[in-house]
Amino acid sequence: MKTIILIGGQGTRLRPFTLEQPKCLLPVVNRPLISYQFALLKKYGIKEVILAARYGQPNLAEIASIGKSFSLSVKFSLEKIALGTAGAIKKAAGLLKSRDPVLVFNGDFIADINLERVIRLHQEKKACATVVLTKVEKPSSYGLVVMDGDGKVKSFIEKPGPAEIVTDTINAGVYVLSQKALAGIPSGKNVSIERESFPYLLAQGENLIGCVHYGYWIDVGSLESFWKASRDILDGRLGRDLVPEAKEEKLEEKVVVEGKVSAGCRALIKPGVILRGYVVIGAESYLGENCVLEDTVLFSRVIVKECASIRKSFIGKGSMIGANTRLENAVAGPGSYLSDFSCLGGF
Ligand code: GTP
Repeated sequence: MKTIILIGGQGTRLRPFTLEQPKCLLPVVNRPLISYQFALLKKYGIKEVILAARYGQPNLAEIASIGKSFSLSVKFSLEKIALGTAGAIKKAAGLLKSRDPVLVFNGDFIADINLERVIRLHQEKKACATVVLTKVEKPSSYGLVVMDGDGKVKSFIEKPGPAEIVTDTINAGVYVLSQKALAGIPSGKNVSIERESFPYLLAQGENLIGCVHYGYWIDVGSLESFWKASRDILDGRLGRDLVPEAKEEKLEEKVVVEGKVSAGCRALIKPGVILRGYVVIGAESYLGENCVLEDTVLFSRVIVKECASIRKSFIGKGSMIGANTRLENAVAGPGSYLSDFSCLGGF
């Protein structure tokens, strides 16, 4: 089955990191977010992917080459105006050469969904559309999907108010769409699949099936979930076969590790550094002597000079953190510069 992955959103909740890099390339534990999706597709023998992106979106060649490293054939569908989730699917479907159903992914989740089961259910139930669902503890910030006892979707509730939280199953951003479902989406218009197309198909009496996924799933849409995804992967909550290969540096004996750490390719960590809790050090980053990092993500090429201490922070690509600086609960965008003895987040 061919797959469309939606990567053309603005990623506003992950600013400042999405200001110069698309969300799908943000490194989650030193692996581009989209590589987790490519690993999932490869596991289920899927070979062809259409990436629905915005015209002029940066780094498309880099994304294609990551796809190739998973033996995927990658094509792009480029939108001149934002078409929304369904509008983008409709445009990308124009590149499909067959009338088979198509698998669709939102481009920002990490999960171990059994795609074979999803596709089989779609065929067995002769569904117009199959929507993968997942159960979450706090459903209020997601789109809820209500099913009947036979697994048929009854309704979609986007941004539910407190009285509308009647289920804990939410839309996981993975669908199988038949040609009939695709035909129901107007061309060249901004249309949302969750708010418009699925409710429209339900109103037409079409057969929409929910397929509940009980394994790992996270939507890397906000800094909070980015941080949780990083912790989960360091904890080994995602199966090893779905964690893409990446070159990581071994830590020297003189570095004190009191937690779980990933150090990206060519990261240089000087003696006396203390790493506590969950720490991700981006590729080609440098940590000077006696720095202390706790529960922190450094993107690539970050320089942290000696004796700096950073707690619960995200530090963007190419930033420079001066010596003896103290940071707590800080979000420093790409290319940030902090002079020696700076103090952010309390003094
Ligand atoms: P926020 O601005 O933080 O909400 O992020 P987002 O823009 O990624 O929006 P959202 O998380 O709702 O999008 C879900 C998925 O659909 C993501 O993978 C987006 O990249 C993708 N997406 C959203 N809108 C469009 C669009 O107009 N075109 C394309 N091709 N993809 C889209």
